[in-house]
Amino acid sequence: MAAERVSCALCFSYGDRNYMTYRVRSAEERRAEIQAQAAAMGIDDAFISSLVETFYARIRAHDRLGPIFAQAVDDWNDHLPKMKDFWSSVAMSTGRYSGKPVPAHQKLTGVAREDFSLWLGVFETTVRDLAPSPEVVPFFMKRAERIAESLKLAMFTLPSLKKSRQTEN
Ligand code: HEM
Repeated sequence: MAAERVSCALCFSYGDRNYMTYRVRSAEERRAEIQAQAAAMGIDDAFISSLVETFYARIRAHDRLGPIFAQAVDDWNDHLPKMKDFWSSVAMSTGRYSGKPVPAHQKLTGVAREDFSLWLGVFETTVRDLAPSPEVVPFFMKRAERIAESLKLAMFTLPSLKKSRQTEN
């Protein structure tokens, strides 16, 4: 795909030359870059599949997190392929996942902020155990931590802000 050349509000022409133009990468170029980066680290469908299978086997056996998942997940044959699609979209930009994680977590009961540290701990150990190369660990953890922060914001911070606004009025 040809690179787009886009003019900004500050661009101007002098003679036959354009000044202060900048190059914007297209979505396809960004996707191709992420895919090349993931492939160079050894991330592929087989790795994502074993990461998800191993992670949730550990989660299900976890003293604190196991019962939370047991209560909320009716069908693991549905949850595991969904989570493989999710991680392949996050790590390899495949676009296979099209769900809504925020409402899925907002409806959970009995989850505390601190549970996210436990979740991330199990996730990090699993990525470390299975990573095809050392760079895979920070690559996944950066993404998992960022998503965990936005889920915590939606589950705990925003509802308590809304409540305190309601009591003020
Ligand atoms: C304490 C932390 C967490 C708990 C207890 C938790 C629990 C759950 C449960 C029980 C479900 C299934 C909900 C359902 O099927 O109705 C779920 C779905 C999901 N979780 Fe989490 N989760 C946690 C953290 C995270 C994090 C950090 C991520 C991402 C990095 C994540 C990504 C997802 C995704 C993508 C789904 C599927 C949502 C959908 O499309 O239905 N979760 N989680």
